[in-house]
Amino acid sequence: MKPNPTVRPVAISGTGKYVPERVLTNEDLQRMVDTSDEWITERTGIKKRRIAAADQATSDLAVGAAREALANAGVQASELDLIIVGTVTPDMAFPATACFVQKALGATKATCFDVSGACSGFLYGVEIARGYIASGLADKALLIGADKLSGIIDWTDRNTCVLFGDGAGAAVLQPAADAAGGEILSTVSGSNGALDEILNVPGGGSRCPLTAENVGDKLNTMKMAGREVYRHAVNTMLAAAKEAIARAGLTVDDIACFIPHQANLRIIETIASKLHVSMDRFFVNLTEYGNTSAAAVAIALDEAQRTGRIKRGDHILMVVFGGGLTWASAVVRW
Ligand code: ACO
Repeated sequence: MKPNPTVRPVAISGTGKYVPERVLTNEDLQRMVDTSDEWITERTGIKKRRIAAADQATSDLAVGAAREALANAGVQASELDLIIVGTVTPDMAFPATACFVQKALGATKATCFDVSGACSGFLYGVEIARGYIASGLADKALLIGADKLSGIIDWTDRNTCVLFGDGAGAAVLQPAADAAGGEILSTVSGSNGALDEILNVPGGGSRCPLTAENVGDKLNTMKMAGREVYRHAVNTMLAAAKEAIARAGLTVDDIACFIPHQANLRIIETIASKLHVSMDRFFVNLTEYGNTSAAAVAIALDEAQRTGRIKRGDHILMVVFGGGLTWASAVVRW
């Protein structure tokens, strides 16, 4: 880490993604629980999701995305000062998943830690890494959103199991002066811990450890009050989007591409309608991957830039929400 902090602009200089090979379709789910392709498509927009292999840990997904992002940025792992992994499905309670990524990449000089912000983990990490670099504490940061949600899903619960998938997305952050574009103009983040009950994994932590007696109760799987989450998702993402745009000194009309959390197409359509923005300015890939938690917005950012959906100079807005409740947003001049 560098001494003598100074404030300086920060940019996203490269992105990457990794999704596991196995595809789980709505038709596959019809054979597992009482659901239908029609219900899932109408209520969520999701058609498929990727499922990690049994021997793939979250860090394995993260490393795949990290390698792509480093290559895209032209940065060597050995140059990294900081690795942050946003995840709620760490390899282990400790070491941090970021430490496993460090080991796999050989990023020996990096400080490594995880951020637990559920689906907001990636953008929480963007804000933290931005602060490190802006203040001069770090020069090159690798930020990864990675989750293997398939491991904490109750595959007999149709209310949740149709919604999620596994994956990882990554970004390299550097001082804007060292990057070709991608300057982060604003970040916003927030939390409301009073809403812990509407989306959580109640067991397996210190409050409710798994025991031989309760192991059959599936307390280590995700519990969700879908309608409540939906309502808060719309309100928090809308407010966070507006605030990030205002902090960047822009208006909604200046945003060429909105990259929202990929949880549910209806949530995205509601936000688009409330912002008076047509859906063709929103990037959507949840059809292919479902909700991949911390990875979702990072995978979407990577796909948006690799497919030419966002171009140099475009203003883009990323906005997310997740369990906690948590939310975050960022405006970037690509
Ligand atoms: N297939 C068929 N029927 C289903 C299914 C399913 N997979 N799931 C629920 N149903 C049924 C319900 O049992 C209910 O039946 P009932 O009327 O007989 O009781 C009916 O469908 C309607 O259920 P609702 O919950 O009212 O359906 P809704 O339109 O709200 O859609 C959904 C449910 C898709 C979960 C929606 O509420 C939603 O997307 N919420 C947000 C979820 C979310 O984004 N979570 C991610 C959080 S991010 C993170 O941090 C992990």
